[in-house]
Formats: sequence, structure tokens, C-alpha cells
Amino acid sequence: MGRLVIVSNRVPSPRERTQPAGGLAVGLRDAVRGGSSMWFGWSGNQAEGDGDPQPSFDTVDGVTYATIDLTESQHEGFYQNFSNGILWPLFHYRVGLMNYSRRDWQTYLEVNALFARTLLPLLKPDDVVWVHDYHLFPLGQALRDLGVTTRIGFFLHIPVPPWSLVRSLPGAELLLEDLQAYDLIGVQTEEDADNLNQSFRVNGLTERARAFPIGIDPHEFRAQAETGAGSGEAERLRASLRGAALVLGVDRLDYSKGLPERFRGYEALIARYPEHRGKVTFLQVAPVSRGDVEEYRVLRRQLDELTGRINGAYAEFDWTPIRYITRPIARDILAGFYRMADVALITPLRDGMNLVAKEYIAAQDAESPGVLVLSHFAGAAPELDEAVLVNPYDADEIADALHQALTMGLDERLARWRKLDAEVRRTTAGSWARDFLQALDEAQPAPATPAA
Ligand code: ADP
Ligand code: G6P
Repeated sequence: MGRLVIVSNRVPSPRERTQPAGGLAVGLRDAVRGGSSMWFGWSGNQAEGDGDPQPSFDTVDGVTYATIDLTESQHEGFYQNFSNGILWPLFHYRVGLMNYSRRDWQTYLEVNALFARTLLPLLKPDDVVWVHDYHLFPLGQALRDLGVTTRIGFFLHIPVPPWSLVRSLPGAELLLEDLQAYDLIGVQTEEDADNLNQSFRVNGLTERARAFPIGIDPHEFRAQAETGAGSGEAERLRASLRGAALVLGVDRLDYSKGLPERFRGYEALIARYPEHRGKVTFLQVAPVSRGDVEEYRVLRRQLDELTGRINGAYAEFDWTPIRYITRPIARDILAGFYRMADVALITPLRDGMNLVAKEYIAAQDAESPGVLVLSHFAGAAPELDEAVLVNPYDADEIADALHQALTMGLDERLARWRKLDAEVRRTTAGSWARDFLQALDEAQPAPATPAA
């Protein structure tokens, strides 16, 4: 097989310790490690002039990172408005939050065409191109329009709702037609594959979607967790708890993660089970994400208010029920916090996969593991069904699950964790990428592809 070329809007900064949070960059970075490949995408910087940007290159550990700048108006129409103000809510089943505009759709198409034009001269004839996520639905077709005949695969990291919802997007069938340019489309779960194939079917298109659940590198994460648990930061956290149990939440500050519902669930725990007052601390790490998109600002205000209200109502002069941090935390320290946490509380209303759930399992001490409380609506839930599963909309159910987790005996914790750990080791980031790329190699070429 030829060189692997990954294309995604967000590209990790290979030289920085604190990375922007997000499953795509983390999962793929684990997957490409060790091979020779190129990763093309947005630099995160603003372009100065109006002409096509020149890519910048940086090669680290055999991976060449090629990134382009976008102008302010491209960034606004393509990334903020169309990708994150229209596609993101729609694909997370939140049609009511979608702010549709034809102009943003136009910018989205233009930026996809720009990605194709600037990538084209970097491609070699036997490259395998792997495009990622909703920012780049039309990229495959844009590359085909420029004459690219090499294999092109696509992976969607977010959920896919049924056609009855997708069709709320005016012109949704055009996006589906563009997707036909890919030789294979991977999604996270069987439910997502069924929904996408149904959308193809009812529009008279070829069914190209298959489920490839993404994983992590559990060995590496365990090692990070062991080191992180011995770090100065972990020591400080441990000392500050003064024996209280630690419930941990880690998410981007995103409305798909069910954070207000989670805070209310925790509030219900301390309201209905007073024996936990002063004996448990909930630490939520939620770095600000997409802070220029209105819905995200609304959520932030809501969480500031909720935290203040709950802490005001229940805190003692020597106990704070919720600790809430909106800054990112370095990955190795975070891994140590996972290992220390008695309970991980992960309650998305919808999520493509949720790597945090898998990371928490990998980080646990095999002698005395913690308990994972997980939403039914995380993409990871079908695989991680030995977690304590909850409906995230029901605060009382979250409270009961937390009580169950905080009082669970060692035998049950071990029995559940061993099964979960086996599952997390079964499909890793590496095996996910290998399985997808092998299936891409074997896939029937897309109908639009001219014969090689
Ligand atoms: P999403 O892709 O929607 O953000 P995932 O749970 O799949 O959700 O992936 C999130 C990734 O970002 C995980 O690898 C997680 O460790 C990382 N992450 C989340 N929150 C933080 C944080 N506060 N600091 C650093 N990394 C974080
Ligand atoms: C999710 C999406 C990714 C995105 C990440 C972080 O994981 O599937 O495509 O990169 O969130 O979001 P951001 O907008 O910061 O790239």
C-alpha cells in the first residue's frame, strides 16, 4: 500500500505537551504513530492575504504535518457557522440548535475546494488518502473533480441520525451525493452505519458506510496514568481531597456532553443521599471549546451559574461539592487524575465514540479499579456495557448510579473492570486504523472514479 495521507480540519501540534482536547486528533495521532505518512489540515492560524495559502511543513517521528491558514471569513463561514453551527448540532440530534444559512454552505464548499487545490500538488500517484470528519464531507468529490483517482476513504467521528432528521438540512441530499466519491465510509457504531446507509438508500445512492469503532492506545495510556498518578499535581489533588472520594468528569465544554444534566445529577446525589456530603468531591475538567459559537457561550454561562448555585447551596466552610475547571490540562497529568478517580461520570446526550470512557478504563489500577458511570448515548456504550449505564436526562438515575458506584464492593468493581478492560484492549487506535485501511484497500472503487 502507498503512503498514507490523512486530511482533517484539526491537526494536533506535534511539539506541544498540552494539546487542544478532542477525540479525532488524539485517536489519529495514536493510529499513525510509527508509519511514514502525511497529515494535512488547518493550521489554527489566520491567513493574511486573499490568494491560496501556501502549506507549512513540519516532520516529527516520520509524520509530515502540512497545514494551511484560513482567512477570518473562511474560518467563520466554514468552521464556526457551517461545520459547528449547522452540521454539529444536526448530527448530534439537536436540530433545534441548527442555524442554517445558504451563505455559510457556500463558504463551506469553497473551503473544501481550497483544501483540494492546495493538497493536490502534494499527492503522489499511489497515496492512500483518508479524510476525516464533518468539516470535509465534500473533499473527496472536490479531489475527484481535480482528477485524483487514488483510493480515498472517509471516517466520520460523530453520530449519524436517521434520514428523517438529516433531511432537516436543506440540500442534505447534495452532501450524500458528495459522499459517494469515497471508496469507503467508516462510522463509529452499527447504529450510525444503519442510519447513513438508510439515507443513501432512500436517495437512490450506493450504501458505503461500515462501522469501525475507534479505540485508544491502552498500553501507552496506562503508562501515562501510572506516571501521572505520581506527579506533583496528583499529589496536590490527593492532599486536597483529605480522604473524600473523587468523581471525575473530563469533556470539551460542549452541549453534546450533557454537562448541565450531569451537574444536576450530582446535585441530586448530595440532596437525596446526605451521607455523601463532605465525603465526595466532583471534579469537572471542561476546557472551553469553540468559544466563538453562540450556543457554546450560552452553555458556559449556564454552567457558571449552576456551579455557583450548587456550591452555594451545599458547600461547608471546609468542603466544596463541585470543582470546575475550564482550562485544558496536560494529558499525562489528566491520565494520573483518571487513575485516582473513584468514579468517572461520563454522560453525553450523544457522542460519536467518547474516548474519555476508554481512557478511564485503561488508566485504572488493576488491584482496585474505579467505576465507570456512562450514558447509554455514548458511542462507546455498546462496547462498554459492563459500565453502570444511565439515561443522562434523568438526574435521579444519575444520582442512583453515583450512589451505586461510590458504595460498590471490590469484587464487583474488579469483575466489571476486567471485562471493560478486555474490551478496551480488543480494538485499539492501531487496530482501528489497520482494519479501516485494509477494508479501504479491498473496497469496490467509488462509481465516480475513472478506471485506474
Ligand atoms: P470529543 O472528541 O467530542 O472531544 P472524546 O471523548 O472522544 O470527545 O475525546 C476527547 C479527547 O480529548 C480525549 O482524548 C481526552 O483525553 C482529551 N481531553 C478532553 N478533555 C481534556 C482536557 N480538559 N484536557 C486535555 N485533554 C482533554
Ligand atoms: C470532535 C470532532 C473533531 C474535533 C474535536 C475538537 O472530536 O469530531 O473533528 O476536532 O471534536 O473540536 P475542534 O472544533 O476544537 O476541532
